[in-house]
Amino acid sequence: GFALAAQATLNFTNTVTGQPLDLSDAPTEGRDTEAVKKFLATGVNIYVENPTCLPKGKDLFLSMCSGCHGHYGEGKIGPGLNDSYWTYPKNMTDQGLFETIFGGAQGQMGPMYGALNLDEMLLVMAWVRHVYKDDPNDAVWLTPAQRAAFKRFNDKEDQTPDLDKAPVCKAT
Ligand code: HEM
Ligand code: CA
Repeated sequence: GFALAAQATLNFTNTVTGQPLDLSDAPTEGRDTEAVKKFLATGVNIYVENPTCLPKGKDLFLSMCSGCHGHYGEGKIGPGLNDSYWTYPKNMTDQGLFETIFGGAQGQMGPMYGALNLDEMLLVMAWVRHVYKDDPNDAVWLTPAQRAAFKRFNDKEDQTPDLDKAPVCKAT
C-alpha cells in the first residue's frame, strides 16, 4: 500500500459513494509501469496516444467488458460507452473513468480491481476512448490537439490488428 500511495498525488474516489479508493487492492503486477506511474501522478493516460497498445486494450475489453457493454461499447445490459452521454459526468475525464472501472458503480457494474491490474485498466480505457463515435468536439477527455486530430470510430472500419499479430505495446 505505501509505495502506491506515495505515487498517487491525486485523490481517487468511488463513483457512487465518493469514498476514497484503496489502490492497494489492485494486483501487485502492473502497478509500476511507466503508464501507471504517470497516471497516478497526473491523471494522464499515455496509452490514449499510443496506437500500438490498442490490440491489448481491445482484447481486454472483449473479455472483461463487452458482455455487458457490447462488442464496441455500443451498450447492451450496461450503458453505451462510445457516445457523448455519461450517467456519471466524471467519466468525461480519464481520472473519473478509471475510478468507475476500479471501484465500480451500481448494480452489475462491480469493481474491476479483482479482474484487471492497474496497467490493464489504462489499456482498456484507451480502447474505450478509441471507439468513441460522436462529435470529437464533445470529447472533452481529449486535449484540444487530440480532439482536432481525432477520427470518430466506425466499427465497420475497425482495422485494429488481433493481439496475436501485434502483441507488443511499445513506448512512444
Ligand atoms: C456502467 C465501464 C464491465 C455493467 C459503466 C460505466 C462505465 C463502465 C465507464 C459508467 C457509464 C456512464 O457513466 O454512463 C466498464 C468497463 C468494464 C465494465 C470498462 C470492463 C473493464 C462491466 C460488466 C458489467 C457491467 C462486466 C456486467 C456484469 C454495467 C452496468 C452499468 C455500468 C449495469 C450501469 C451502472 C450505473 O449506472 O451505476 N461501466 N464496465 N460493466 N456497467 Fe460497466
Ligand atoms: Ca453513454
